[in-house]
Amino acid sequence: MNFNSKNVVITGGTTGIGLATAKAFINAGANVWITGRNAENLKKAAEEINSPNLKTVVSDTSKLTDISILEKAVAENGEKLDVLFLNAGIGAFAPIEQTTEADFDAQFNTNVKGHFFTLQKLIPHLVNGAAVVFTSSVVATASNLGTSVYSATKGALNKIAQIAANELADRKIRVNIVSPGPIQTPGLETVVPPEAKAYLAAATALQRLGDANEIAQTVLFLSSDAASFITGTEIVADGGYLTYALK
Ligand SMILES: NC(=O)c1ccc[n+]([C@@H]2O[C@H](COP(=O)([O-])OP(=O)(O)OC[C@H]3O[C@@H](n4cnc5c(N)ncnc54)[C@H](OP(=O)(O)O)[C@@H]3O)[C@@H](O)[C@H]2O)c1
Repeated sequence: MNFNSKNVVITGGTTGIGLATAKAFINAGANVWITGRNAENLKKAAEEINSPNLKTVVSDTSKLTDISILEKAVAENGEKLDVLFLNAGIGAFAPIEQTTEADFDAQFNTNVKGHFFTLQKLIPHLVNGAAVVFTSSVVATASNLGTSVYSATKGALNKIAQIAANELADRKIRVNIVSPGPIQTPGLETVVPPEAKAYLAAATALQRLGDANEIAQTVLFLSSDAASFITGTEIVADGGYLTYALK
């Protein structure tokens, strides 16, 4: 896929799926902005990508003031965006009885409020015909124990994406969702103990965890002209996790 000179913003681009997607867009010729909560992680990501076509912005998506910093950086650059990949996300897993208000707020502020207001602030900066992709999750459909808040954030995100697809269609802006199954990333490492990783791999039809690059390729497809008649929908990239019969 060719994204020569296209302008791409990726929230949460310092590690995992966001970083893999930033690399894939850079390799396809795009100019890419990545965000993250701190300068140190962004510096590491920039060193790893090592391209003059990469820009970084410290912007905590859970804070409206930080979303404005991202918007200002994009506005000052003076070029419209062709692709917006809303990917930043956190998960904290616990049964309902043990879930704290702090965990609830942190997940909703990052995974829902952050995406909503980043989209809102960047809509004026999107070219007509742009592509917006949200990172959701298979848990928006599945109902696994201990994932109530995280799953609810992803369910909410799916609805926001679907309605955004309808609202932005008059500008030919396509809005879609990628829903990964279990993917080997630093984020997964932090929330899932090693024995649970083996369980998750065994719960997919393909009997393995996914690679972040496999999600990146799905994002590039949804952002490309090859997906020109696809909007308001979800691509589940889960190795068969949702439909595997022998869970
Ligand atoms: N891995 C999986 O199995 C899986 C499955 C389904 C869905 N997902 C979703 O995929 C997305 C990426 O996750 P990942 O697995 O790649 O995890 P990851 O390696 O932890 O990456 C998360 C990214 O989000 C950024 N981030 C987190 N909170 C942020 C905030 N408030 N503001 C800005 N950036 C923030 C992190 O940057 P800093 O830490 O540098 O701030 C990092 O770049 C998330 O939305 C996650 O819910 C993952």
